[in-house]
Amino acid sequence: MSRSAHPAGPRHADVLPEGHYSAPPADLNTLDPKVWAQTVARDADGVVTVGGIDVKTLAEQHGTPSYILDEADFRARARAWRGAFGADADVFYAGKAFLSRAVVRWLHEEGLNLDVCSGGELATALSAGMPADRIAFHGNNKSVEEIRRAIEAGVGRIVLDSFQEIVRVAHIAQELGKRQRVQIRITVGVEAHTHEFIATAHEDQKFGIPLAGGQAAEAVRRALRLDGLELIGIHSHIGSQIFDMSGFEVAAHRVVGLLKDIRDEHGVELPEIDLGGGLGIAYTSDDDPREPHEIAKALTEIVTRECEAARLRTPRISVEPGRAIVGPTAFTLYEVGTIKPLDGLRTYVSVDGGMSDNIRTALYDAEYSVALVSRTSDAEPMLARVVGKHCESGDIVVKDAFLPADLAPGDLIAVPATGAYCRSMASNYNHVLRPPVVAVNDGEARVIVRRETEEDLLRLDVG
Ligand code: LLP
Repeated sequence: MSRSAHPAGPRHADVLPEGHYSAPPADLNTLDPKVWAQTVARDADGVVTVGGIDVKTLAEQHGTPSYILDEADFRARARAWRGAFGADADVFYAGKAFLSRAVVRWLHEEGLNLDVCSGGELATALSAGMPADRIAFHGNNKSVEEIRRAIEAGVGRIVLDSFQEIVRVAHIAQELGKRQRVQIRITVGVEAHTHEFIATAHEDQKFGIPLAGGQAAEAVRRALRLDGLELIGIHSHIGSQIFDMSGFEVAAHRVVGLLKDIRDEHGVELPEIDLGGGLGIAYTSDDDPREPHEIAKALTEIVTRECEAARLRTPRISVEPGRAIVGPTAFTLYEVGTIKPLDGLRTYVSVDGGMSDNIRTALYDAEYSVALVSRTSDAEPMLARVVGKHCESGDIVVKDAFLPADLAPGDLIAVPATGAYCRSMASNYNHVLRPPVVAVNDGEARVIVRRETEEDLLRLDVG
C-alpha cells in the first residue's frame, strides 16, 4: 500500500472546525509518558515497543484489535498504591475496571486485596487463588445465591447497600451458622467530578443508604442488632475520574461524623472506614493525575484530623482504586482501514474495532488520544476522528485527534489508557468478536484473555 498523503481533509489550525482539541502537537511522533504505559518507547526504526516487544510483532502474532497490557507497569502501580498506604491500611483493587485470573495473581503477589461486585467477579477471584478473606463483595442488588456463595467462601467483607440487604445477609449468614463481617455503604451527599463537586446532589442514585434524614444511622442501628452481622465499618464512594481531593475531604468529614454519632449512641467505635475508589488518570496530555503517595497522604491526613477533632481512634482506612491501577497500563492496538477525508471537516479513520471494545467515548463522551505506532511520520498533522466498524454513527473511539496526513490503510495506530473499563465493558455488538488481552513483560507476550471466536458466539446461540 503506497503511503501517499490524502488529497483533502483539514490540516491547519486556522481552518479547523470546532471540536474537543487544542492545537496540533509540535511532534506527532512523541509519546507523552503521562498517557502511555511505563515501558512504551519507540525503537530505532520508529516502531513503538512495549515490554521490549514491538507492536508489529504483537499485531502479527496476536492480531488486531488487541488490548496490550504492560505487566511491569501494572505491578509497579499496584505496588505504589500498596506502599503509599502502608501496613495500617488496605488497598482493594476494583475488579470492575478489568479482571482476569492473571490480574488476580499479580494483585495477590503484590499484597493487594480485591473488590468484586458480581458472582462472576467473585468466581474469577476465587478460581485464581485470591484468599477469600481479602475479598470485598459489593453491589446494589446482590442475589441470594451470590450472597450465599460469598459467605460460604468466607469473603472478608460484604458491603451492605440497602435496608433489605442488611436483613438478607444477616439471615443467610445465620442459616450458614456464620457471622459475616460487613460495612454499610452510605451516600454522603457529595457528587465528585473531575474538578468540582456538587454537594447534596448525589443522594438521587441507586447506590448506598443516604446519610441525610438519619437513614444511615438507622441502618447502623439495625445492623448492630443482628447476630449474623459483624459491623466493621462505613463505606463511601463518591464518583469516578476525580482529580480534586476536596470531594474526599467532605466525604471523610461526614463519614467520621457518623462514626462519632455511632460512638455516642451505641458506645461502639467502628474500626474501619472505606473511602472507595475514583481517582483519575490521564487520558490525554491535558489531565494531571495525582501520585498514589500524594493521595494516601491527603486521605490519611483528612481522616486523622477529623477523628482527632471527634476524639475517635483513627479507624483503619481502605481504598478501592480500579482505573488508577489498570487504566494507564494498557493500550488498544488497531489496524487502520478505510480513511475518509471530509473537506472542511475532518478525516474519518476507521479501525477494525470500535464501540464494542471501547464504549466509553459513546457512553461518557470520554476523551482519548491516539498515535501512529507502526512507524514515525514527518507528514503534516491531520485532524482525525477515529471510528469503529459498527453500524452506528456514534461508534467513535477518539473524537478529535491529530494523526499524520500520510496515514494509510494497514498502518497500526494505538489508543492509550484503555486498561480500565474497556475490555470489562466490551460487547458483541454486530457480532464483532471481543479482542484479547495480551500481557507483555520483559520481551515476552502472553495472552491472558484470548480473542473471542465465531465458535464462541455460536456456542451460546443454541438454535
Ligand atoms: N469502589 C466502588 C464502590 C465503585 O463503585 C467503583 C467504581 C470503584 C471502587 C472503582 O472506581 P475507579 O477507581 O475505577 O474509578 N464505567 C465507568 C466507571 C464506573 C465506575 C463504577 N464504580 C467508566 O468507564 O468511567
